[in-house]
Amino acid sequence: MRALPRLALAALTALATVAVVSATADAAADPTPITVLTSDFEDGTVQSWAGRSAETLANSTTVAHGGAASLLVSGRTATWQGPSLNVLGTFEKGTAYTISVWVRMASASDNARLSVERRTGGVAAYDQVVGNTAVTSGAWVNLTGRYTLATDVEFLRVYVETASTTGDFHIDDVTASYVPALPIQTDIPSVKDVVTEFPVGAAITGAETVTQHGQLLTKHFDSVTPGNALKWDATEPTENTFTYAQADPLIAFAKANGLAIRGHTLVWHNQTPSWVFTGADGQPMTATAEDKTLLLARLENHIRNVAAHYGTDIGVWDVVNEVIDESQSDGLRRSNWYNVAGLDYIRTAFRVAREVAPHAKLYINDYNTNVAAKRDFLFGLVQQLKAEGVPIDGVGHQVHININWPTVADTESMLTKFIPLNIDQQVTEMDVSIYTSSSESFPTPPADRLLKQAYVYRDMFALFRKYQGEVTSVTLWGLADDNTWLDTYPVARKDAPLLFDTTLQAKSAYWGVVDPSKIGTSPSVSPSVSVSPSTSTNPGTGSCAVTYRITGSWPGGFQGDVKVANTGSAALTSWKLAWQFTGGQQISQLWGGAHTQSGAAVTVSNAAWNGSIAAGGSTSFGFLGSWTGSNPVPAAFTLNGTACTVL
Ligand code: XIL
Repeated sequence: MRALPRLALAALTALATVAVVSATADAAADPTPITVLTSDFEDGTVQSWAGRSAETLANSTTVAHGGAASLLVSGRTATWQGPSLNVLGTFEKGTAYTISVWVRMASASDNARLSVERRTGGVAAYDQVVGNTAVTSGAWVNLTGRYTLATDVEFLRVYVETASTTGDFHIDDVTASYVPALPIQTDIPSVKDVVTEFPVGAAITGAETVTQHGQLLTKHFDSVTPGNALKWDATEPTENTFTYAQADPLIAFAKANGLAIRGHTLVWHNQTPSWVFTGADGQPMTATAEDKTLLLARLENHIRNVAAHYGTDIGVWDVVNEVIDESQSDGLRRSNWYNVAGLDYIRTAFRVAREVAPHAKLYINDYNTNVAAKRDFLFGLVQQLKAEGVPIDGVGHQVHININWPTVADTESMLTKFIPLNIDQQVTEMDVSIYTSSSESFPTPPADRLLKQAYVYRDMFALFRKYQGEVTSVTLWGLADDNTWLDTYPVARKDAPLLFDTTLQAKSAYWGVVDPSKIGTSPSVSPSVSVSPSTSTNPGTGSCAVTYRITGSWPGGFQGDVKVANTGSAALTSWKLAWQFTGGQQISQLWGGAHTQSGAAVTVSNAAWNGSIAAGGSTSFGFLGSWTGSNPVPAAFTLNGTACTVL
């Protein structure tokens, strides 16, 4: 079994840290999304949209995605100009919004992208939600992405722009919605309290530091790695202009919460701006002495600035990342770095990092180090460089693996190989994909895959713990399945590689780490309970039907999903569903409606947006509740006072 092919990461580098292109989430477990904005332009206006500068916005009936009208932007004089909408006050900090917009060129073709501009203290930042996507005048193209605001702002606008031309274009049927966040489980053990042999970390973006995500992070983890915020494109986008707008809030959060920080990464062939490899003559650098001198000077300047900015706050640096390529006869990746400077870029990077951050442990980090050929090349390189006196303190094993690969034995060989070098080892980017090839895609993670994944986490953590002292930390590449790079890499599809699900609840994988005897009892793998009693005991009136499902259950708590169908012949404009709990259950939070509970009696009224149910239509709501002893499904429901069929 081979590892997933590593496609050009460059294609992904455009993704902002706070934005992950969405894929269908675990539908069975997800509560109903709440829509916070809709622009369909059917009223003949521009519906509060405005240009970003002097371009012209107009309602148009030339083309429409849905209905008869769309929004047309014309008179653009720069590619960044385009329609924008104020979402200040609409988007709340810490909530992940799914934004969808349809785009179509008026003529010709271009690439369109969707972004958010935010300003704090007058300083603007631009977060890309969906990267360049080909658009033509012949068809509507959908841009859908996820966006979480992680900072306080005084300006917040969603906008669409193009990459190359200033051609006119249309947008239509814009929506933004969110799935209400669930409270984190506070009654389960903290991973960091169970795994005490080494610090356990998570890679984070700004989105992981606020509200429920921040709570989950600090409950379970000892350490963080900014997933993108310290890479070259984030910290020195143009030469000698350093910006820490992404990283500083993450580092401040980590410090305030006593979390250790892994710095990732000072030198990599990806997410490095092209100016770095452009010579004084404006041409791509080659292996000349002049280009090499300039490149190493840029490298030194970069490390001096970035490492010095954080002083002793960062205790470990991934100084160089992914320098091995086992397909080369000498095992060395032919990156721009290597092609221009040979191994001197690695020597320079470690020398300067040691000088600027003498307190820090300096790492060489790579993926697939469990593959014998790659492992052995890495070993040889570290051995050689250490013999030369290059200050390498540790080897980082990324451990991006999947449910079938690699074996524990190969992973153990990966660790034992490096022991004679007398250096530290860390697992730096672990995740366990539910996919075993690029051609698979599941809308919802299948229960058997999640179970396999739990066993992989169990076995790998047992192995790492066995090497206590050698392995000095284990970091997961993400906090929860709602934000994982594997949703877009190596192909776009929903993956679920971490310990917590898309609603931040513990998966079987979590129990694999924390208490393997409980694997299989977590909500992710227990099948949804769909319900008794039969229709014969509850014939109802034929005008409504209710499906009550327990979509997740854990000691003391559960999540429910209730579908209300109008099976009568008249439309409803508002509704009230009532039932009795028989097991002492208590609802703690409900979305998609408003609830009251008095003893066993529950009444749920519609939310403002889902009161209308057409004849033959349905709506649903979800809730979190508590239970003790047993959690029986209610036997009967009434809708607006009339008994319903129970499905
Ligand atoms: C990934 C990030 O998670 C993504 O958000 C980004 O688009 C691409 O890079 N190996 C590494 C990490 O060393 O830096 C990569 O992070 C994942 C693979």
